Amino acid sequence: MAAVGAIVKAMVDGAVPSREELSLLLAATGGDFERLCSAAQGVRWARVGPDVYLRGLIELGNWCRKDCYYCGIRRGNAGVRRYAISDDDALESARFAHSNGYASLAIQAGEDASPAFIARIENLLHRIAGSTKGELGITLSLGEQTPAAYQRWRAAGAMRYLLRIETSSEQLYAGLHPADALHSFSGRLAALRALRACGYHVGSGVMVGLPGQTLDDLANDLLWLRDVDIDMVGLGPYLAHPQTPLWARRHELWPLGVRLRVAIAMVAALRLLMPDINIAATTALQAIAPDGRERAIAAGANVLMPNITPRGRQDDYSLYDRKPQAADAQSDSLPTLAARVEELGCQIAIGNQGNSRHFTKRLEQSAGG
Ligand code: 5AD
Repeated sequence: MAAVGAIVKAMVDGAVPSREELSLLLAATGGDFERLCSAAQGVRWARVGPDVYLRGLIELGNWCRKDCYYCGIRRGNAGVRRYAISDDDALESARFAHSNGYASLAIQAGEDASPAFIARIENLLHRIAGSTKGELGITLSLGEQTPAAYQRWRAAGAMRYLLRIETSSEQLYAGLHPADALHSFSGRLAALRALRACGYHVGSGVMVGLPGQTLDDLANDLLWLRDVDIDMVGLGPYLAHPQTPLWARRHELWPLGVRLRVAIAMVAALRLLMPDINIAATTALQAIAPDGRERAIAAGANVLMPNITPRGRQDDYSLYDRKPQAADAQSDSLPTLAARVEELGCQIAIGNQGNSRHFTKRLEQSAGG
């Protein structure tokens, strides 16, 4: 079996690894882990450069129709205070992002497919475009919706959509969700296809270190992301939340340090596998180590999503335990982030929407025949 160094080198040269080889990369520690990360960073310089793109993150509300066993804002959690920020507050956050050079927004909320919600988002998108000269790139992360809803939001100016597959193993997926039509694996896949058909830049991703998940499962996740030709990825460690059913399985979990290392190895392996996609350094990494996001950037991640939800609301959007809270918001201030990113030899691309080159290239290829 090839050693990590040889697998990494072959991938830098464009070879597509087997699942077994990817599993070996994900198991890498010590010098092998460092080699994996620095090779990924090398590919990043060569293919997407030193830029780190910003998406100002707005968490609109935490009401959710779903009941996922891992998530703190699941419908069945009576212990969470439900909130929704007003459109005016969201608009103010959007203007803040626009005037501070964020250039892109990510709008998230619990899943709501009511006609009122769909109309509200459509209206909000129009208002944001109207008050920021249409200059912000907009990513939505609002769960599974009908193709018609996706189309309306696309027409109202959203161009990117993030919908995590959570795990590409249908069997694991079934263990993480209630067995009903609202939570079906095939429904998730259909939603991702609908997003692609609407012309969105499509993002997905997984949780790392779920109970019962193996390195082989994660290697399959990487190959799945490649198979669906994803444009952007957000992935992070699974963090048990006390008010969820999966909390009962917390004793099965890999130690936090292992979950962090494997999540970063996932970022690095993905950069080698899909050199020109956008990869986010996610907040869940920061929940394990204060510099978790920076470590992901040093392994090839090129997107940061600083939380710009109005203060006082962030505390209620608690998907997992240990989420960095409003008190830490200072760590998301632009000068602080810029200095940290520069220490890694990267730079925050102020004023740049930061589209996925992978998306742009696919468009060109399909236009060119
Ligand atoms: N730990 C880590 N990530 C979580 N998410 C939800 N719950 C958790 C958790 N307990 C992630 C899921 C979801 C995204 C909004 O947050 O991947 O898609």
